[in-house]
Amino acid sequence: MDIEREIAGRAKDIEQRIKKYMPKESGMQQTVIDAMSYSIFAGGKRLRPMMMEAAYEMFGGTDREAVEPFMAAIEMIHTYSLVHDDLPAMDNDDYRRGKETTHKHFGEAMGILAGDALLNYAYETIAAALCKADSAHTIQAFGILAKKAGVYGMVGGQTVDVESERNQTADAKRLDFIYRLKTGALMEAALMTGAVLAGASSWDVSAMEQAGTKLGMAFQIADDVLDETSTQEVLGKPVGSDSRNQKMTYVALEGIDKAKEEVARLSEEAVAVLDGFQGEHTFLRELFLYLIYRKK
Ligand code: IPE
Ligand code: IPE
Ligand code: MG
Ligand code: MG
Ligand code: MG
Repeated sequence: MDIEREIAGRAKDIEQRIKKYMPKESGMQQTVIDAMSYSIFAGGKRLRPMMMEAAYEMFGGTDREAVEPFMAAIEMIHTYSLVHDDLPAMDNDDYRRGKETTHKHFGEAMGILAGDALLNYAYETIAAALCKADSAHTIQAFGILAKKAGVYGMVGGQTVDVESERNQTADAKRLDFIYRLKTGALMEAALMTGAVLAGASSWDVSAMEQAGTKLGMAFQIADDVLDETSTQEVLGKPVGSDSRNQKMTYVALEGIDKAKEEVARLSEEAVAVLDGFQGEHTFLRELFLYLIYRKK
């Protein structure tokens, strides 16, 4: 499999499919809808919906329409998290996905509102799906996604992330908490909801959660490495943001070399979890391994 081509093809396909779920750009409130579209369609790897669909297929799911609203919803939630993460009160960054950040382009109020609107629209999208397919699986997937996005998930992790600024003393427990929640939680949600929607058992769903935790940790450490070693042109977002904000990161605490080793180790552990399953998971496996050496 030419994994790079496969990823690019899937990302393009996902982008087209997400379009159908976005609000129409009209009405008195058009500015906020423009800002939502601006941030969502700025580009982005679409990893979470990609992982969700791959997990769905791995557990035998075949109905694209059942998983699609969830794929759109998780990308909306992820994009909102980025829009808010870039705000002056948080990481204060000016570039994202190769363009000006939403608040830079539309002003801070619209940045806040576009994030709020994306989060809310994610749930509006799932509510519509629930009305159509009133199944236990859909309800369970909704609960997982909501929890992993909130105080016991991404928002909880972002909270401790900002509270740990200017504190670069080694604290493995705290760092683990931040990464597991701010980044791991949405990766877990992607794999778990895909599995749940395909009717996987609760044992399988917890194994997929574990794979997501490991992959998420690896992904965030790799993100920290890129923040030090890449360029804005390649990444599409500023480099050096973490050191400017004196973030508690794995790289700050352990150094680049150890960080790279950890990315490979955790990713291989995530792959080992996948390999414990019978279901066809070649793509997911290759994707996890590809992400170890990703350039953006
Ligand atoms: C960026 O996520 C934020 C982190 C969790 C490190 P991605 O690297 O998946 O960002 P996009 O979606 O491709 O822009
Ligand atoms: C953010 O981590 C993770 C989120 C939940 C948005 P970072 O702050 O390192 O993400 P980037 O580097 O801005 O994408
Ligand atoms: Mg941040
Ligand atoms: Mg940031
Ligand atoms: Mg970062």
